[in-house]
Amino acid sequence: MCGIFAVSGETSDAGMRVLEGLKKLEYRGYDSWGIAVRAPEGHVPIEKEIGKISHVEQVFVDAHEAIGHSRWATHGGVTRENAHPHQVGRVTLVHNGIFENYKEVKEEGPDHAFLSETDTEVIAVMINHLLEEGKSSEEALRTAAEKIIGRFALLVMIEGISGILAARRGSPLIIGRGEEETFIASDIPAFLAHTNVVNYLDDDEMVHIDGAKVQFSSLQTGELIEKRNIEVPWKVEEAEKGDYPHFMIKEIFEQKETIARAINHEDALVEEAIELLQSCNGVYFVACGTAHKAAMAAEYFFAKFSHRKINVVPASEMPSFEQFINEKTAIVAVSQSGETADLLEILERGQKKGAKVLAMTNVESSTIARIADVHLPINAGPEKAVASTKATTAQMAILFLLACADGNRMNEGRQILRSVSGNINDLLNPRYEDLVRTVAQEIMNHSTLFIIGRGSLYPMALEAAIKIQEVSYIHAQGFPAGEIKHGPIALIEEGTACLVLGDDQETLSNATELKSRGAMIIGVSTTQADIFDHWLRVPDCGGAQSIATVVPIQILAYHLAVLRGLDPDMPRNLAKSVTVK
Ligand code: AGP
Repeated sequence: MCGIFAVSGETSDAGMRVLEGLKKLEYRGYDSWGIAVRAPEGHVPIEKEIGKISHVEQVFVDAHEAIGHSRWATHGGVTRENAHPHQVGRVTLVHNGIFENYKEVKEEGPDHAFLSETDTEVIAVMINHLLEEGKSSEEALRTAAEKIIGRFALLVMIEGISGILAARRGSPLIIGRGEEETFIASDIPAFLAHTNVVNYLDDDEMVHIDGAKVQFSSLQTGELIEKRNIEVPWKVEEAEKGDYPHFMIKEIFEQKETIARAINHEDALVEEAIELLQSCNGVYFVACGTAHKAAMAAEYFFAKFSHRKINVVPASEMPSFEQFINEKTAIVAVSQSGETADLLEILERGQKKGAKVLAMTNVESSTIARIADVHLPINAGPEKAVASTKATTAQMAILFLLACADGNRMNEGRQILRSVSGNINDLLNPRYEDLVRTVAQEIMNHSTLFIIGRGSLYPMALEAAIKIQEVSYIHAQGFPAGEIKHGPIALIEEGTACLVLGDDQETLSNATELKSRGAMIIGVSTTQADIFDHWLRVPDCGGAQSIATVVPIQILAYHLAVLRGLDPDMPRNLAKSVTVK
């Protein structure tokens, strides 16, 4: 959570550049924002406010260095005082992460009249105090970092010392190398308009940027580190809305290509992943939120195509099963961002016990991608809307391919996925979108929505619920179709809207049970049935039906949000990557 951005170089509008960069990172946190610049006279003024940075037009002019922050509140409420940057003496800094022991450090530290309730201000106090004791800026940052238990990405400006310092442990930081300037950001799209040449900062490393000069060193020993420049293949347009009103609908429509791209891996890489799985005795698929629902779909793919029973556990529930993790365990991590804190912790603890990690992420620079023993990129391109759409189907496509490869059916798997991709391409057209919008109009004022599905469509019922909840704020809940008669059916009243995923006989019988209690039935299936009040057609995709079924639901969730006057890209209380526990 939180986006951070810095620029240093031959520019006189560093503040505006940070403003533009932060707007591209706003999906990481959007409850307040702040920017600090190094003024020509040497002092460091700050502008900060609560609210979204997308509404801000103008900040300071005339500066060649600036840092900024877009916040998702953790410590301290959403107030101007708690917004970053925080300034103490000569030190101005922004922070993304969690300083777990900040209360103890605050109590032991020097006397200071704190202006905010944040953990971050404590770091600024520490660094300023160390500078006053005569330490150099690098030493001060290193010594302060030693005291921090938790995760951080820090950007620091110090009055009287030119350049910007940055350090990371557990939260992402990427350096963008321009011709005459250098950028630092939580994610590449923030500076992609200026450069696609990057260096990745690893944990316990720091960097000092000063214009085009960049010096990396160890946060533990101070030893200098050499880094390779890497060209990233992302295009600026991929990270922009273009002609679409929102990122969410743009990303839904990008599924015309992303599924095909997701499976475009060399056979050798897929085989390496399979070798890892097959060399282990126990396999745990661990993920959060929507990625967890994609992993649940994989449970069905593996059962069908390789006859393997896999364990699928939400990362936050994994501690109860960690006793089973050892050097013969494979942990399969599924994550769009590759930064989700609950998941990262499980992987780090698993690796300490000798487990092997196979990761699937959409961000090759992410922490999870970098610590994995084998990484399968999902290749969906930047996903900016908080609600995951194209990354979900890309994850499901790779998981499907993996299951087929595990059952020695990789070619068959590719063939099925190619036809899924073609079918989704045909489905995604304005006429179909209009049809889904009509259904959204029917149910937009409902306060509750139930979704049922059986087999591999059961995880999709859960995924449908997440998608609808997070962007439309309608209370949506998913169930295994056969389970409704064991309790939830008591909630059905005249007109209760129920989405029925699939058209197999048993699911239709369950739908009939709902209908006879007054439910309005919306079928999402390959064929029409008499009991459907409305029908959203899904192309027949055989064993990969769950991948196609999720698409109309994404469009429905999007239109429910828009019809209810909400911003589907930035739902309340959420952030794109959840880097706190
Ligand atoms: C998806 O629509 C949600 N915003 C959320 O559940 C998300 O899938 C979850 O936080 C996991 O994120 P990750 O894939 O980046 O690990």
